[in-house]
Amino acid sequence: MTPTIPPLGRAIRHEWRLDPDFLTVNHGSFGATPACVLAVQAEWRDRMEAQPSRFMRAMLPGALRDAANRLGGFIGAPGADIAFVDNATAGCNAVLRSLQFAPGDEILVLDHGYNAVRNTVRFVTERAGARMTEAPVPFPDFSADRMVASMQAAITPRTRLAVIDHITSGSALVLPVQRLVEVCHAAGVPVLIDGAHAPAQVDLDMHAIGADWYAGNCHKWLCAPKGAAFLWAAPQRQAALHPVIISHGLGGGFLAEFDWTGTRDFSAFLSVPAALDFHAKLGGPALRARNIVLAMEGAALIARRLNTEPVATGGAMGLVRLPVAEPATAALSLTFRDRLLAAGTDAPTHVMGGALWLRLSAFAYNDLEDYARLADLAARISREVSP
Ligand SMILES: Cc1ncc(COP(=O)(O)O)c(C=O)c1O
Repeated sequence: MTPTIPPLGRAIRHEWRLDPDFLTVNHGSFGATPACVLAVQAEWRDRMEAQPSRFMRAMLPGALRDAANRLGGFIGAPGADIAFVDNATAGCNAVLRSLQFAPGDEILVLDHGYNAVRNTVRFVTERAGARMTEAPVPFPDFSADRMVASMQAAITPRTRLAVIDHITSGSALVLPVQRLVEVCHAAGVPVLIDGAHAPAQVDLDMHAIGADWYAGNCHKWLCAPKGAAFLWAAPQRQAALHPVIISHGLGGGFLAEFDWTGTRDFSAFLSVPAALDFHAKLGGPALRARNIVLAMEGAALIARRLNTEPVATGGAMGLVRLPVAEPATAALSLTFRDRLLAAGTDAPTHVMGGALWLRLSAFAYNDLEDYARLADLAARISREVSP
């Protein structure tokens, strides 16, 4: 059956509480939760506060597992292999801080890897006398084949773990994770995928990817409330995996350890099924495909206006080079982003390969006109900061 897709862009913006005076073209950083999902979250909170002890003891355990099962249907995994965590950073931390490393061991990351996760790798390697090594992401001339070759070349006999971003943060590239996992596994290296941006931005199938662990956010492209993310673990990896917070469930198995890490507000996790319903209502796979095309068109439009070039990222985040003096500096990047904010919008800027790049997001509430406005602002700010 061909999925139907309702009128999107401006026609559907009323579903969110977005400020109409702010140009929202950065869905990627923090997502945006529609009012209908926030209403479901409020209902969960009401249930919790009506009878706190009955809620925690009798309702929560089943409701949490129901939510995990629904999410499992969306990401191609049994719900029993999925734990909820606050965010992708927490999921990656749980894996990295559960594993034992010895002096001389190497953890392989990408040079485009997300800084918070690279810091976690740095933390665990320094503590163990181990080393963080890097596989360069071919950029801006990216190709899946070149990425696979780069990974292959960076693996050594001391590599104990690879941490691979599914979609890189600053450069927005969708990486060929399935092929990268194959390369690592062929060398006996287990793989943690940092999929912070992937759920509901691209199609996702845990079984097909075949990694050992996968951390993904529901609060970005799936539009769940903030603080809703998951950690999937292959069954054979679950016994040695522990949440960052050790609580009553220690020794009771994967779900016992992760489903209770102390008293907290569970409403974001419990609202994930409502977010899945909303995503399906907007078209599901058809929405994802539409966003990817819109990101490409938006990036091309901005690049034409700036007289620069876009990068084919393959996802719903586009990337465009900014026309500023090169080599660009981190200070210039910061100034550029501050000026965007002052002008009533936001889009991440990063220095890569000496050039300054602008990342845009394309989500359901965006249309091409948004990128025409962003292009005007980017052109004006480029002239101001780099006359
Ligand atoms: C690749 C990657 N990993 C991790 C994160 C962190 O996500 P969170 O703040 O939800 O933990 C991000 C955020 O953009 C990201 O791009």
